[in-house]
Amino acid sequence: MQEWKIAYDKWQPEYQQLREALCTLGNGYLAARGAFEENSAEPGAHYPGTYLAGGYNRLTSEITGEKIENEDLVNWPNWLPLTFRCADGEWFDLRKVEVLEFQQELDMHQGLLFRRVHFRDRQGRETSLRSRRLVSMANKNVAALEWELTPLNWSGEIELVAALDGRVTNSGVERYSALKNRHLQAVGQGRDTEDTFFLEVQTVQSKLRMAQAARINIYQEETLLAVERDVELEEGLVAQHLKVLCQQNQPIRIEKIVQVYTSRDQAISEPLHEACKNIKRQGNFEHLLLQHSQAWHRIWRRCDLTITNDVKTQSILRLHIFHLLQTVSAHTVGLDVGVPARGLHGEAYRGHIFWDELFIFPFLNLRLPELTRELLLYRYRRLREARYAATQAGYRGAMFPWQSGSNGREESQVIHLNPESGRWLPDNTFLQRHINAAIAYNVWQYFQATEDMGFMTYMGGEMIFDIAQFWSSIATYNSELERYEIRNVVGPDEYHTEYPGKENTGLNNNAYTNVMAVWVIQVALKLFDILDDSRIEELCQKLSISEQDVQRWMDIAGKMHVPFIQDSHIISQFEGYEQLEEFPWPEYKTKYGEAMRLDRILESEGDNVNKYKASKQADVLMLFYLFSSGELVGIMQQLQYEFRAEDIQDNINYYEQRTSHGSTLSKIVHSWVLSRSDRKRAWRNFEMALVSDVEDIQGGTTAEGIHLGAMAGTVDLVQRGFTGLEIRENVLWLNPVLPEELGSLKFQIRYRNHWISIQLTQETMLISFDKGWSKEVQIGVLGEVYTFKTGDRREFNIGR
Ligand code: BGC
Repeated sequence: MQEWKIAYDKWQPEYQQLREALCTLGNGYLAARGAFEENSAEPGAHYPGTYLAGGYNRLTSEITGEKIENEDLVNWPNWLPLTFRCADGEWFDLRKVEVLEFQQELDMHQGLLFRRVHFRDRQGRETSLRSRRLVSMANKNVAALEWELTPLNWSGEIELVAALDGRVTNSGVERYSALKNRHLQAVGQGRDTEDTFFLEVQTVQSKLRMAQAARINIYQEETLLAVERDVELEEGLVAQHLKVLCQQNQPIRIEKIVQVYTSRDQAISEPLHEACKNIKRQGNFEHLLLQHSQAWHRIWRRCDLTITNDVKTQSILRLHIFHLLQTVSAHTVGLDVGVPARGLHGEAYRGHIFWDELFIFPFLNLRLPELTRELLLYRYRRLREARYAATQAGYRGAMFPWQSGSNGREESQVIHLNPESGRWLPDNTFLQRHINAAIAYNVWQYFQATEDMGFMTYMGGEMIFDIAQFWSSIATYNSELERYEIRNVVGPDEYHTEYPGKENTGLNNNAYTNVMAVWVIQVALKLFDILDDSRIEELCQKLSISEQDVQRWMDIAGKMHVPFIQDSHIISQFEGYEQLEEFPWPEYKTKYGEAMRLDRILESEGDNVNKYKASKQADVLMLFYLFSSGELVGIMQQLQYEFRAEDIQDNINYYEQRTSHGSTLSKIVHSWVLSRSDRKRAWRNFEMALVSDVEDIQGGTTAEGIHLGAMAGTVDLVQRGFTGLEIRENVLWLNPVLPEELGSLKFQIRYRNHWISIQLTQETMLISFDKGWSKEVQIGVLGEVYTFKTGDRREFNIGR
């Protein structure tokens, strides 16, 4: 690993699919996995996937006699194919030649994927291949690759083939193989001009169209070669065959420039027309690379975060920022998309959007808040569907789906396959109503970082009111307890979806859900002071919120039930948690390691994880992740519970021993909540979260798509967790506990229209304030508030 590069110096077929996910290139609109150009999809070996933000399609499959409809992020035509053979040889494939040297690099600074291979074929011919690839950050509809082939000990004619292949299916996840996977139908393919050809496809159900056009040019040094070309056409495939005479030690350079347009694009007439028109306007690879790398430089100038002590950590943090910004970028604006939990990097979770935004938005809020706004609008546009879902379930307000895709209906699967046992099982994780609190929390955090009154007045406020109304209507009054309850839900810990031996699904009084519901209602009440009266009136009329409704909100905000483990100050994950059996952790940890999917393991052993005090991921601890101790104690006081800041540590210890970290999000939360009390343990959790994807700690899941929540979460741990950055009452607070392992830290944030640069060492913190649109901001350091004006620069002593 290098500071700006992830580099592999060996060809290791067993890691190929993992590397393909990690070497994905994208621009927030389109992404392509880092598969080799010469390989098409082969189970277990190669999987070139091409994904489009918001590119979904639905198919119905029959499983165990039941008809099941699923919506998938579609694998679109592969634009990569390029390969060659000598007149008497085989098509190039690394598995069929002797690899003498291999080097692959993901250059994050330029957004470039590079490969160099020196190989010998069965006839003893030695060849060097150098390839470069980009998915343009400068022009979202452009992707390009370049091959430089050098015959090292031979001369002769070669045949090259370059294609656009639309015969692809969604086959990237083995567990989904029993489901229908053919999302595309061919619309047309052909040659346009001498050196350009095109392909057009359409999804079978959502009727999205994609047109790709490619231009192939071959150069010797700077001279464009006139070559013999043939076009091969097949339904869903267009390929150009080219014959070139190669001379020993004289490199030839092949450029494949591609345009991609879809029927979701703005400012177009029709996708194929745009693709064929614009492919002729593109410059050569070098020119495209220059524009592309300049776009990345501009991004890095704002979004980088530098540390001094540790190249590996530095490089992985950059990798995480890189993949986040390849999934959502300035090109996302106007696309009406959310952030898929697994990026645009693979097909796991079918490209659905979950609550992971909670971990992703803080990075964007403090740098590119326009993107958060855009991603929140994705939710806003689906309010109508959320309202319908609430009504159907017998509630009021808006109930957003646990898994979201194209139109905002619930996309959670009805049944899922346990790969450990081969059995299809009901999936009740859709009962995670806490997604609604996450959406409201995200709206509030965005508002805190930007003070965007326009957004809050028109969209944010409406979402918060509608979600508060949902919480109010799902809560029921228990006269015995004299408190409100929320029954039949699932908390963040997805292992527990029902009480053992009970018929009903769902659990009662998941503490996280109940506290979050109270918090949302409190924020909704706060909005009465923030928004203007006339807007409040409009909103209440539009959403049918009456005075009695508001009275009920106030009542719930003071009387929600939060379960505790008997005679203790340990918050109970849900009602009845303490009656569950203790789990034999040592036995399973020895066998399966620190992070394991206990639900699958136990089901395959004929057991049931619902029986045990065993969590998949942080659940109660999420409260200490999202709220400062002061805020949480405040909520508890309002609910008339005796809960002190000192109790938090016992809660952490209690649940730490009972968590299997079956989700990559878990370690982020554990590191965060320990960062102030136990720096060593916090760092160990951070280290594990950091390598979740690069070392694929969940055993094969990264190849199916990166874990964007964990990636963004690690960066956020550094930017907010270790710096103690929080926004409270119009003050940006900093209270650093920088781990020694990081050395020093430097980054910039955008806070309420200002760029603020923060430099930290173990002893000092330097804050400088760039020119911005607002006159001044309040920054609180170690308990004291300072006013910063344009150009101000102050150093603080933070040595403890
Ligand atoms: C986790 C969820 C998460 C989802 C998508 C699941 O394994 O339990 O919390 O939202 O993955 O990342």
